[in-house]
Amino acid sequence: MNDSRHQQPDDRPEVPLADRPDDLREAVRRRYAAAAVRVTGGDAGCCGPQCDPGSVEVDADYGAALYAADERDALPAEAVAASLGCGNPVAVAGLSAGERVLDLGSGGGIDVLLSARRVGPSGMAYGLDMTDEMLALARANAERAGVANAEFLKGTIEAVPLPAEAVDVVISNCVINLSTDKPAVFAEAFRVLAPGGRLGVYDVVADDELTPRQRAERGDHVGCIAGALSFAEYHQGLAAAGFTDIEITPTHEVADGMHSAVVRATKVAKATKATSAGR
Ligand SMILES: C[S@@+](CC[C@H](N)C(=O)[O-])C[C@H]1O[C@@H](n2cnc3c(N)ncnc32)[C@H](O)[C@@H]1O
Repeated sequence: MNDSRHQQPDDRPEVPLADRPDDLREAVRRRYAAAAVRVTGGDAGCCGPQCDPGSVEVDADYGAALYAADERDALPAEAVAASLGCGNPVAVAGLSAGERVLDLGSGGGIDVLLSARRVGPSGMAYGLDMTDEMLALARANAERAGVANAEFLKGTIEAVPLPAEAVDVVISNCVINLSTDKPAVFAEAFRVLAPGGRLGVYDVVADDELTPRQRAERGDHVGCIAGALSFAEYHQGLAAAGFTDIEITPTHEVADGMHSAVVRATKVAKATKATSAGR
């Protein structure tokens, strides 16, 4: 990265990466571009506190190990190998035939392909990612899988390139913690959901007593740890965006005091007008 914009006179401390949102997002993009290239070359990627971008270690807390064998077996090997999430949001979203689904930060496409199968030909699954290498991998995986009702969009989860009320379900798998503007992510998820729509997300969430510094001691931002919200912060963020019925349930610990968690919330359906019979 060309960091010359941030060079300061010698007597001033350098601004930490965590306080430079544009550079932090670029670091995230580069990490996952490298992961996509590694998968394309036959190696697994990784996400988590032990994740070394140069290594190919598979962590049981992340990725394909979190999916049922029959789900993995029905997908191209490249889509399974590219899995970098911390759960299986398709399993918690309760998808039905005909629904429209959006996956925030779709990576190699595993959750989009599984969603496309669940919603069937009358439904649609969108994946959204900012990393060209991941989009290329996901589109190739959709072709290998023979899935026609999936589309991968380039963009950021802070400015979703879909119109308002475009989808019934928003899913995401270990991505929101990577965002440098989480209020924008929650606002965009709320905007694109149709009234009555729901959010079903896996993400890394920190115990409420952990300070941002303590979270950063447990892992870096690009490895899905330092940027994690606490349970209370997650709840407040979703409520501020307009969500109701918010539930955040930890599933397994990924670092000391930090958990993979299922996050569920809904966008209230519009009130229907009373009929004359009901007056
Ligand atoms: C940890 S990987 C998870 C990928 C996928 N959800 C999965 O379960 O395999 C994070 C993905 O989110 C994407 N991403 C991270 N921040 C993003 C942002 N602000 N906007 C769009 N995509 C983002 C990265 O490019 C990467 O593909």
